[in-house]
Amino acid sequence: MKQAIAKSADIPEGGRIVIDIPGATIGLFRAAGSLYAYENTCPHQGGPVCQGLLIPAVEERLNKDGTAAGFRFDPSDPRVVCPWHGYEFSILTGRHPGNAAIRLRSVPVSEEEGIVYAEL
Ligand code: FES
Repeated sequence: MKQAIAKSADIPEGGRIVIDIPGATIGLFRAAGSLYAYENTCPHQGGPVCQGLLIPAVEERLNKDGTAAGFRFDPSDPRVVCPWHGYEFSILTGRHPGNAAIRLRSVPVSEEEGIVYAEL
């Protein structure tokens, strides 16, 4: 069943809200022009993952000889960091960057005329 859960304007690009819907608390994220929704339960130990710090991916750059050349942020790969133990997840895929088997549970959402709907 499709149910209205938020206004599109409440989630600007790069933003996030955490809301209660029937049967779950979810995080809604807007990144790279799209909307993503995940249950607010970390697959590690159940922490409120969607309420964590939002950061771009951090990449280590290497010189041609393999030595470290410092770090850089990659804003095209936004992440959320679980506040309990620091597990990090891609907002675009819901996956942990070091182990693709560890992932957030996505919630199907859509938008029409400024309203966000979830399939419940
Ligand atoms: S509960 Fe999220 S990192 Fe442990």
